[in-house]
Amino acid sequence: MVFPSFSCLSKLVRLLLLPTLIVSLPIQDNFLHCLSRNPEFSFPFSSLLYSPKNSSFTSVLQSSAQNLRFTLPSIPKPEFIFTPLQESHIQGAVICSRQLGIHLRVRSGGHDYEGVSYVSEIETPYIVVDLAKLRSITVDIDDNSAWAQAGATNGELYYRISEKSNSHGFPAGICTSLGIGGHITGGGYGSLLRKYGLAADNVIDARIIDAYGRVLDRDAMGEDLFWAIRGGGGGSFGIITSWKVRLVPVPPIVTVFLVPRTLEQGAMKLLIKWQQIADKLDEDLFLRAIIRLANTSDTGKKTVSVSFNALFLGDASRLLQVMQKSFPELGLIRQDCTETSWIKSVPSLAFFPNNTAPEILLRRTNSVLNYFKSKSDYVKEPIPETALEGLWKLLLEENSPGVLWTPYGGKMSTIPESETPFPHRKGNLFMIQYLANWNDAKEDAAKHIDWSRRVYNYMTPHVSPRTAYVNYRDFDLGMNKKSSTSFAEASAWGFKYFKGNFKRLVKVKTKVDPENFFRHEQSIPPLTFSKRN
Ligand SMILES: Cc1cc2nc3c(=O)[nH]c(=O)nc-3n(C[C@H](O)[C@H](O)[C@H](O)COP(=O)(O)OP(=O)(O)OC[C@H]3O[C@@H](n4cnc5c(N)ncnc54)[C@H](O)[C@@H]3O)c2cc1C
Ligand SMILES: *[C@@H]1O[C@H](CO)[C@@H](O)[C@H](O)[C@H]1NC(C)=O
Ligand SMILES: *[C@@H]1O[C@H](CO)[C@@H](O)[C@H](O)[C@H]1NC(C)=O
Ligand SMILES: *[C@@H]1O[C@H](CO)[C@@H](O)[C@H](O)[C@H]1NC(C)=O
Repeated sequence: MVFPSFSCLSKLVRLLLLPTLIVSLPIQDNFLHCLSRNPEFSFPFSSLLYSPKNSSFTSVLQSSAQNLRFTLPSIPKPEFIFTPLQESHIQGAVICSRQLGIHLRVRSGGHDYEGVSYVSEIETPYIVVDLAKLRSITVDIDDNSAWAQAGATNGELYYRISEKSNSHGFPAGICTSLGIGGHITGGGYGSLLRKYGLAADNVIDARIIDAYGRVLDRDAMGEDLFWAIRGGGGGSFGIITSWKVRLVPVPPIVTVFLVPRTLEQGAMKLLIKWQQIADKLDEDLFLRAIIRLANTSDTGKKTVSVSFNALFLGDASRLLQVMQKSFPELGLIRQDCTETSWIKSVPSLAFFPNNTAPEILLRRTNSVLNYFKSKSDYVKEPIPETALEGLWKLLLEENSPGVLWTPYGGKMSTIPESETPFPHRKGNLFMIQYLANWNDAKEDAAKHIDWSRRVYNYMTPHVSPRTAYVNYRDFDLGMNKKSSTSFAEASAWGFKYFKGNFKRLVKVKTKVDPENFFRHEQSIPPLTFSKRN
């Protein structure tokens, strides 16, 4: 069904077809004027609008910006930030932006790796619609479901579920400050992915505002659009205002461990074995490998360290049996294991200090921010020891590198590639994320970015044919340089993120947003695009 407020808004659309006589005013005045022309909107909208003249502009802009690279003074800034309190405010923002020809970006949690939710490198002026204030969560345990507004974080969702039940959970991200709005549009994985799949695999309904300002639920949007928004990447099809998700069962006791091993302590042999078993382990066991630099305990020499980090959906004694059978080489002992509840395991997996209370999940912002460049790959055949030796050499050339190996298999292998736009299913042993981090603006960003490219090039023979995770957005794969981009240009990154599903995404985009109102450097292009101006 189409929601009632749409009929009022179509009046607004007609009203706005009148020629605009106010073009010489600043964009925000035109925008506010447009909003106020609808009697439906008697709200004092100026209190939701931050322009650079408002003293809090910078703090609001940076409030959820996760990659400090995109907060530097040299980076383009929006004309203003609009912070809706209700769905109808977003409808107004879409209709007025469209009418006034304003380029709009939407932000939920601000974690985009290339900052596309708050920076436009291809078009100015532009505005940001920031959904941080739309974050209510309603959990219905009897129905096994929850509605979460786009601006809520995955941590808040976990916490609200745990307030009502200790036997329900949700399979979304490991980091706990991700905006549900952006996160689920790209898939969304965490430590429950081998058991329950992605966050997007567990969506049962959604509300979206389309390019014409209509609010649509699953029935009203139809199955093509409902398919596209569950993994096709954010910012292409409309503005998700809330997701209805299916909760999943979690046992009362889960077990976590974090076991670090340096090369000197045999990390290489362990990784060789890990590659053979990580995707085939008991589905209750999620065991990832976090590869970083460390100093050896004896000589203090720089070396590569691998931390084996696990969530097990069961108690420690069963975990020890599973490990004894599948990965005895790690030598896991009872003392390495911490039994806890699922909700308390969440801060631990997210690297908060031991015994951090779950209330930390209500803190929406990350306490440690840095500058970073990241890339991803999928591995279908184990990477041989000789290749890993070269990778270690490269790691030792970078100051604070990270390489994360996330195991697939389990539920992920049972879901057909075309079920959602997220195509990385059967046949993938694990995902790699490469990370270069730095925390001083004065450092040479180009040097770190170059390092990430060298590592990526180095890995080419071991990860072909190459694919990537859209939530780890990477402009090196290609980007839309203008407001219009051809299918051929977008194919460079489109097929890596979505494989064969890219074509269907383009078809859906062409149907629902032929004029490409929702666009950014890596948005899905419509097939026939006629530019507005
Ligand atoms: C520190 C860190 C840790 C991470 N950990 C994980 C992890 O464990 N698992 C995982 O899967 N991913 C992880 N990610 C990646 C994360 O899933 C993506 O960056 C995701 O897009 C973040 O969503 P957001 O709402 O916070 O981001 P935003 O920057 O707000 O948005 C991301 C994209 O979605 C669009 N968008 C935002 N809101 C909406 C909306 N309401 N409707 C439509 N489009 C929208 C934006 O325009 C942009 O294109 C991590 C990222 C960071 C920075
Ligand atoms: C920004 O400044 C304008 C003009 O002073 C004011 O009307 C508006 O309320 C301010 N916005 C916010 C969010 O405080
Ligand atoms: C290794 O030692 C150096 C020099 O003492 C120190 O600066 C660095 O932080 C240490 N690195 C790690 C990963 O502990
Ligand atoms: C946290 O707990 C793990 C075991 O679960 C232990 O190895 C580690 O030393 C602890 N860290 C701190 C800071 O106490």
